[in-house]
Amino acid sequence: MAKPSYTLHKNFRLPMGFPPECFDSGLTYQAQAGDTFIVTYPKCGTTWMQHILWMLHHDGMPLPLGKNINLEVPHLEEVGGEFVAALPEPRFIKTHLTYELTPYHPEAKYIYVARNPFDCAVSFYYHTKGFIKHYDFAEGTFDKFFLCFLAGEVDWGDYFEHLIPWVEQKNKPNVLFLTYEVMKSDPKAAIIDLAHFLGHAYVKKIENLQILESVLDHTSFARMSKDQSRWSSQRPAHLTNFIRKGEVGDWKSHFSAAQAQQLTQKFREKTKGTEAANLWSQEILDFRF
Ligand code: A3P
Repeated sequence: MAKPSYTLHKNFRLPMGFPPECFDSGLTYQAQAGDTFIVTYPKCGTTWMQHILWMLHHDGMPLPLGKNINLEVPHLEEVGGEFVAALPEPRFIKTHLTYELTPYHPEAKYIYVARNPFDCAVSFYYHTKGFIKHYDFAEGTFDKFFLCFLAGEVDWGDYFEHLIPWVEQKNKPNVLFLTYEVMKSDPKAAIIDLAHFLGHAYVKKIENLQILESVLDHTSFARMSKDQSRWSSQRPAHLTNFIRKGEVGDWKSHFSAAQAQQLTQKFREKTKGTEAANLWSQEILDFRF
């Protein structure tokens, strides 16, 4: 188990057990006006955003125990295009596809959540370790995973190839671009921004402060850490939870100085001259060694 295992499908790494035919059919889904996509690279705050969106749509009601967010806001390339097309309108869809592959409609809405690559790598490591049947990496080390992440040899590919083309869409009217770190520092403002982005009906909802406060409360890390069967399949008790730590800067206790330098160098090269270069403060990215 030197490296995580994946299903290689058309040069694309998928978690093992992920149906390749659903991936293919997901790519052919015709986006509709009225669809709202949550687009992320893995481990950047997808589930958090799925729950915020679901709660806003359901007038501040939290996702009840017994339901799973991935049936309510399904993952396009996991369930396939037919499943998504059959959803009642308005459709809320999760995807990890790159900009080029994401189904596009000028009147669909796209919420992109970016997270700094350092914390993303740590979160992705625990995810890969935890889903044993998907990756067979239960005993894998961070050092091994880091090399795969740095090379872009993980499921959904290279972090920067995902981020940069989406950053370029950031100011389009049908794109709401948020960072995990901004959501952490001011979650209420993020919920309000999201409601404005979704339109008048959602702004009306949050004018009811009980709804706004309920969304804020039930999408907090503390609340989402409870009843985690709502977000993902069960994991063995000795492994970390899916809603794990929810911190900014956790990477500083995982990276060696050499790893920090390697990812910093790649970050600088890939983001040079793009708006991605300025998405995170030096305080978040800096490694004091
Ligand atoms: P950590 O592993 O750093 O804790 P995704 O949903 O894209 O897989 O992202 C998972 C990451 O988002 C995990 O990060 C998880 O703990 C974090 N997360 C989920 N819900 C959160 C919340 N309500 N507040 C803050 N972080 C949250």
